[in-house]
Formats: sequence, C-alpha cells, structure tokens
Amino acid sequence: MAGFLIAKSGPLKGRVTISGAKNAALPVMAATLLTEDICLLEGVPVLEDINVMSELLTYFGAQIERQGTALKIDNSNVKPGPAPIDLVRRMRASFLVMGGLLSRFGSAKISLPGGCAIGTRPIDLHLKGLAAMGADITLGHGYIEARAEGLTGGRIYLDFPSVGATENIMIAAALANGHTVLENAAGEPEIIDLANFINGMGGHVRGAGTDTIKIEGVKKLPGCSHTIIPDRMGAGTYMPAAAIAGGDIILTNVIEEHLRPVEAKLQEAGIQIYSVDEGLRVICERDKPGQCPLAPLDLKTMPYPGFPTDMQPQMMALMCTIPGTSMITETVFENRFLHVSELKRLGAKIKIEGRTAIIEGTEHLQGAQVKATDLRAGAALVLAGLAAKGTTEVTDIHHIERGYEDMDIKLRMLGATIKRIP
Ligand code: EPZ
Repeated sequence: MAGFLIAKSGPLKGRVTISGAKNAALPVMAATLLTEDICLLEGVPVLEDINVMSELLTYFGAQIERQGTALKIDNSNVKPGPAPIDLVRRMRASFLVMGGLLSRFGSAKISLPGGCAIGTRPIDLHLKGLAAMGADITLGHGYIEARAEGLTGGRIYLDFPSVGATENIMIAAALANGHTVLENAAGEPEIIDLANFINGMGGHVRGAGTDTIKIEGVKKLPGCSHTIIPDRMGAGTYMPAAAIAGGDIILTNVIEEHLRPVEAKLQEAGIQIYSVDEGLRVICERDKPGQCPLAPLDLKTMPYPGFPTDMQPQMMALMCTIPGTSMITETVFENRFLHVSELKRLGAKIKIEGRTAIIEGTEHLQGAQVKATDLRAGAALVLAGLAAKGTTEVTDIHHIERGYEDMDIKLRMLGATIKRIP
C-alpha cells in the first residue's frame, strides 16, 4: 500500500491552489439524477470518492465524461436498479443518490451503508425525512428500499442538523408535489452549493445556509452548468501546516467566509491570517527564535458555523506542537479520535476523557511509522510529520487520497520534504 515519507520541514513558502470541495461535489453529482438533461460541473476534484460516485451513476446508466476538473453528466438513460453493495460500502456518500432516484423514478434500492471508522453514522434522519414525504421504506437483506407513487412535500424536523440528511431530503423535495419545510437543517456551505445547483436547474430552494430550508417542488428540472465551491477543509488543512512547520503561504481559490471558524481559532493561537487579492495569507514565523510563540487552544467541534469536525484531527496535530495544555471536545462523531494513538507514536502527549482530548504540547515530536485510519486522521499525521525530527512514514494513504488532491505535490511546492512511495 502506498505511503508518504515526510521529513521535518519548514518554513513553508509560496502559493497553494485549493481544489473544488469533495463534500460539495458529491451531493451535486447525486442531484444530477433529478434531470434527464446534461449537467456540466466545473471544479470537480480528481479524487477517489468522486470516482466512486461516478461509478455509481454510471452503473445506473449515466454517461460521464471528465476533462480536467470538468464533468459532463448525461443521465438521460438512467434506470433505478439496486445500488451495488461494494460501491455503497466504499463510500457512505453513495447513499445520497436515494433522494434523486426516489423523486425522479418513484423507487430506489440501496444497500445499507453501515458504520465506518469515525462512528456508527446511522441514516435514520434521511429515512425519517423521506418517509415524511410519503415514501414507503422497507429494510431487508442488507438493502433499504423506498417507494413512492409521487413524493409529497411536508414539514420535517431533523433531531440533529445532519449534513447528509439535509442534502438527501433537499434533493428528494426538489421534484416532490408541493412545499417542504426542513427545520433544524444543516447550514454548511456545501448545503448552499447544492441549493444553488438545484436552483440553477430551475428548482425552488430557499433558506439554504439557515436552519430552515423551504423547497417548492417542480414537475421537471432541466440540466445546467455549475461550479463547485472551493474546499474549505482542503484550505483549512494547509493553514495549520504553515503553523506547524512555520511559514508564509498564500492560499488561492478560497472563500474566506467559509474558513472563519478555522481562521478564528488559528488567530487565537497567534497565527497571522490576512485577506489578500489572491486569497488568504497565513504567516507563522516559528523558525525564528522568539517569533510567533503560539498559545494553546481549547476547541469544540460543532455543526457549521461552529468549528468543523473535519478539521479536528489537523488542529490536534498543531496542538501537539504548541507547548502548554490544549483541549478538543468532539461533539459531532462519537469515535473521531483514531488519530490519537498514531500521534502518540510520534511522541505526542494526549489523554482522552470521554469525548475530550487533553493535549500536552511538545516541541520534540519524533518521526515513526504511522497509519492513516481515515481521511482527516491521515492529514493530521502528515502535518505532524512536518514537525517531527527524522522521518515519518504515513501508511494507508489511500484514505488521504479519497479527499486530498495531490497533497504531497502541494506540500512539496511549499517547500516541504515529502515523498510518495508506492
Ligand atoms: C458529512 O458527512 C461529510 N461528508 C463528513 O465529511 C463530515 O464529517 C460530516 O458531514 C459532518 O460535518 C460528506 O459531506 C460527504 P452527518 P455526513 O450526517 O453527512 C449523526 C470528511 O472527512 N447522524 O452530518 O455523513 C451521525 O452519526 C467527511 O470529509 C445520525 O444520527 O454527516 C454523526 O454523528 C467524513 N442520523 C452526525 O449525525 C442520521 O441519519 C453528523 O453526521 C445522519 C447522521
């Protein structure tokens, strides 16, 4: 299995261009099922998770062409056959095709996505929403089957502002009869991007980005062109990298507003962040003695606009390098501390108490062989490797490559010593 070899690096210098957001592209790709016309998507990152969604749509009959970061999706010949278990198992976001298939064809059958490393991740809220719109849902032999003669809009309250459930319900409601009101909805930027895509096709979604989303169903949706928003987690990952290794970098293709929760915490630690014409400049002159003494942090993950759980492991890597006691409380997922045991192999001092991690920062991390257990955990290990003396080998980087486009190349362009090994 492929790995990264990383040597202590820094200061990082230069520009890094952020790719389109995986977590925006996946629901938008699923939502193309709403139309029999062609959709053109720009800014789609070249990633394994995107390949899985493409394979799934192709399995249903879609014709997909990629040119660079553009995808042309033609769903005119799609038929709603059962979604194959191996694709759904490979990526939970496969379940996002449920809403589109059900509302366009009146039926969908998808294998249960099951849990994953970061938690059990049920789909009860997705199903509750679809049932409230009149879907008849049955579970059996590892599959979920939903049927509806025609979905009808309704009033749906989510117990938790689940990103995926909000997306699946929005997609289903786009072609439902009448008005759907989704309360306690997720307000992540990726939800707004999906709403913009549906509206670009002629749909009526209002309030995306707030906790109440109103969708007026339409009879038919034509295709459209849409550009995926930049990846706030991609950008967010290079920001602490410049703090861990020290540096002065500029991130281009970013929407600063989406990065505010991360920016605010990094500034609290003492990292300088400025908006510049090209994007965002991040400065931490850690390499110079007495410069940029960073302060420990206390953070809690929350749904947007709270601190994103997808940036928690990378922030932990940073905290491991800041002398003093930092704390992280993970409230979104029940098991998102898998990176802790790996960071400890690099000499980090971390104690877990329930959902809280207590981190005693040290300036003396040491290279070792560590394993990426999931996407963001893997990114955190790469960042820690930039600060560790000697060589760090991160194995199982297929997890990282599910969500980061050319992470090694981008870090190398910033001056880091990192090599991909087959
Ligand atoms: C999305 O996952 C992202 N994935 C995740 O990104 C991200 O961590 C997560 O949102 C939270 O921000 C994509 O967008 C493709 P949720 P999703 O439904 O939609 C519970 C990454 O690293 N829940 O908001 O699956 C669930 O168990 C990934 O890029 C229910 O209880 O997240 C979890 O504890 C990983 N019932 C919490 O809600 C449900 O029906 C948040 O999950 C659904 C969710």
